Amino acid sequence: MHRVHADDGPEETLDPVGEAGWAEFRELAHRMVDDMLDHLSGLSTQPAWRPVPTEVRAALTQAVPRTGIGADAAYREFLRLIQPYPNGNLHPRFWGWVQGNGTPLGMMADMLAAGLNPHLGGFDQAPAMVEHQVIGWLAELLELPRNASGLLVTGGSMANILGVTVARYASLKAAGVDVREHGLQGEPGASSVPRLMCYGSAETHGWAQKAVELLGIGNTGFRRIAVGPEYRMDMAALGRTVARDRASGALPCCVIGTAGTVNTGATDDLEALAGFCREQKIWFHVDGAFGALLKLSQSLRPIVRGLEHADSVAFDLHKWGYLPFECACILVRHAELHREAFATSASYLAEESRGVIAGGLPFADRGIDLTRGFKALKVWLSFLAHGSDRYARLIEQNVAQARYLTQLVEADPDLQLLAPTALNIVCFRYAPAETRGWELNDLNREVLLRLQERGVAVPSATALSGQFAIRCANVNHRSTRADFRLLVEAVVDIGKELLEEAEPESGRSAETVYQIQNKAQHD
Ligand SMILES: Cc1ncc(COP(=O)(O)O)c(C=O)c1O
Repeated sequence: MHRVHADDGPEETLDPVGEAGWAEFRELAHRMVDDMLDHLSGLSTQPAWRPVPTEVRAALTQAVPRTGIGADAAYREFLRLIQPYPNGNLHPRFWGWVQGNGTPLGMMADMLAAGLNPHLGGFDQAPAMVEHQVIGWLAELLELPRNASGLLVTGGSMANILGVTVARYASLKAAGVDVREHGLQGEPGASSVPRLMCYGSAETHGWAQKAVELLGIGNTGFRRIAVGPEYRMDMAALGRTVARDRASGALPCCVIGTAGTVNTGATDDLEALAGFCREQKIWFHVDGAFGALLKLSQSLRPIVRGLEHADSVAFDLHKWGYLPFECACILVRHAELHREAFATSASYLAEESRGVIAGGLPFADRGIDLTRGFKALKVWLSFLAHGSDRYARLIEQNVAQARYLTQLVEADPDLQLLAPTALNIVCFRYAPAETRGWELNDLNREVLLRLQERGVAVPSATALSGQFAIRCANVNHRSTRADFRLLVEAVVDIGKELLEEAEPESGRSAETVYQIQNKAQHD
């Protein structure tokens, strides 16, 4: 028998050690909070984006540190290498892609969530009750039944993929196929599984391609239905496509309506889609990545009428919920189907009626992740602190600002609006009467890149009918009307500068950035 030694030398931990160790760490932690609050409160005097310098790129390719330098020195490296060079979405003039800003309270909520670090597979604990409560709140705000099932996930893509996974499970279950047991290959010896079809407008976001590929439906099983001049799904074309597919023996699995398309902010006729799906007995899924939260606003709610009839709705809280990444939600009207589509049983996770695992792991049974963090805390704290009406007002403010930008574009003879502004996305370009040999797509690409590289503002781009568009998607709670005036002035200034240049140059001096910014502050 081996002898057990009570004293085999000191044991390690990653916690600070002793009173002095905790005091030292406390000082560092307070400094981190203070520095970040300084950063957030000074954003408007910072460039919207800074290119990452070569030496920083090099430092970020160093080999793994085998010996640590200590938390204080490591934090100084963060300040030197990382903090100055994020993608810019905190900034009041960031309108690229569809990226929210986050909030100081959301940031602190993430700190509290990481500090408490509970496991949100489920378990008998208050944090799980918070996630249940938040899901109930969100269902109520979206006018879905209060007992709809839901799950907080990383982002809109994941939320949508989970929704379509439930749709696939449910449509095959109704056709007598157990897709979880046999996959799309079907039961050995049984008749083959029908070919599944999903439908969405040609403006559906790219997550849908990943979903049909992952779910074995394949790209040819995703019908991209044409849109009309307002970028909304053509309902007659949808009807014809579904009828043709049924006639060829395929099984319609799900229709995806979009509330707020990524390109132009258009919303499909969700009421008509809900009626069509009800009649055709097809699962109705809504991608409401940002548009779903229009339900919070009394004046904007009519745009998404019909969303409340969806079988599943995916939406982000890190876009128009203004929360820090990552946070999105999938809501499923039919709680049992949601569970059936994902639940597993394993002896090491077996539920008990008492103890820590009482109540089981309901969240692990609604998606893919077993170990999940406490995302619900930032939603809960923020709703509690600000109230849902405040969110409604901010969403309305963003939509009003997009209308304001549209008016500025329309009022300038050198600018051209490229799509109707349905919501919070404005697509336009610099299009003067005389372009001095520039092709408009090239000219606008260069205008956009200079805007970004000089740190003036960060719109992104899209192509609309082959035309390069400068695209502003406004889910920014920090923007003011002055920021949009500055954007328009800068686009015109840079456009004129390009026309005056014999050869496009690689960028203006940093001084100009600050001249432009100072002008904004005095506006
Ligand atoms: C309409 C739409 N759907 C889905 C997504 C994907 O969401 P996420 O980036 O949170 O995965 C986006 C992102 O911009 C979007 O605009």
